Amino acid sequence: MDSPAGKTTSETPAFLRALAGETLKVPPVWLMRQAGRYLPEYREVRAKAGSFLALCYNPELAAEVTLQPIRRFGFDAAILFSDILVVPQALGQKLWFAEGEGPRLEPVADAARLSEIDSEANAGKLDSIIETILRVRASLDRGTAFIGFCGAPWTVATYMVAGRGTPDQGPAKTLFHADPALFEAIIDRIVAASITYLNAQIAAGVDAVQIFDSWAGALGPEDFRRWCIAPTRRIVEGVRAVHPQARIIGFPRGAGRLIPDYVKGTGVDAVGLESDIDREFAREVIQPLVPVQGNLDPLTLRAGGPELEEQVEAVMGAFGSGPFVFNLGHGILPDTPIAHVERLLKAVRG
Ligand code: CP3
Repeated sequence: MDSPAGKTTSETPAFLRALAGETLKVPPVWLMRQAGRYLPEYREVRAKAGSFLALCYNPELAAEVTLQPIRRFGFDAAILFSDILVVPQALGQKLWFAEGEGPRLEPVADAARLSEIDSEANAGKLDSIIETILRVRASLDRGTAFIGFCGAPWTVATYMVAGRGTPDQGPAKTLFHADPALFEAIIDRIVAASITYLNAQIAAGVDAVQIFDSWAGALGPEDFRRWCIAPTRRIVEGVRAVHPQARIIGFPRGAGRLIPDYVKGTGVDAVGLESDIDREFAREVIQPLVPVQGNLDPLTLRAGGPELEEQVEAVMGAFGSGPFVFNLGHGILPDTPIAHVERLLKAVRG
């Protein structure tokens, strides 16, 4: 089947065939956060690296943890092991992870602080991530696709402005109401850095990139158009200007009924679906526009029980008759039993 992403053959990895619009009998499957703390082999390498960020910037170890879930489970796609917050760090913002709590940054909430982070000071840090991609590409078999990623400008900006994760994205919302020009300037920096970064990832060998907009659901329709759709479109255009064949997955988590606008407005090739989306709406209104990816609830996977197979069936029943990539609706939880992942794969693949 022809698509903007180019021609596929039976040799093309299943994940890329689905992204190109093919309906497959057995959908390709990978899981968000598939490299992570639920795997003992990950915890071992993470301890060796010393910290999460040290692991992200160590190409040998980051490549190793990227490949671990592929070796153990044979997922259809590997995702680069890194984080969305390496982009603000590359822009010169201080970043660290408070053990057991999450990311911390020195907040950017006025023009003076923005001028400080408008530097290329740390741009070299991203070189080590590109090196990770070269290493993974060299050892990944041809049937397994390789996914790169960045955070969407809105979601990255929520962390840059608040200096941490917040329940309601209040600090970022306050700033775009109080000083939209300053907020726009922050978004512009993220857009420019993300285009450069994704283009470098594609040049180094990833097959597709995903743009994570984890906090898209926090915005009403107008703000969503301005702060999610418009900047994401600029990234899509900036990537396609250099790599016209690039496959781009958008994941505006929580956008629900605004997803069709997002797909048309951004030009992404495929879209991720959160767990609590109305599946009938997604099948009837979103999937005819683009291939969809999702949307098993990570809590269902963690809980196991007969409900797990039932819910896998429900996801497959909703999306399996069109172009579809099986995934979760958000990242796998750190206390998920490995046996549940094995059961999920069996249920998807038969
Ligand atoms: O999917 C993958 O396996 C690829 C790696 C990946 C990570 N983070 C590794 C990670 C990806 C794609 C991300 C994206 C990311 N990072 C997002 C968007 C997706 C989402 O989850 O909503 C966001 C918002 C972040 C920022 C971030 N990084 C937070 C809020 C946290 C703390 C919460 C947590 O789970 O600990 C992180 C840490 C993080 N990123 C870990 C991993 C494996 C855990 C670090 C550890 O090993 O202790």
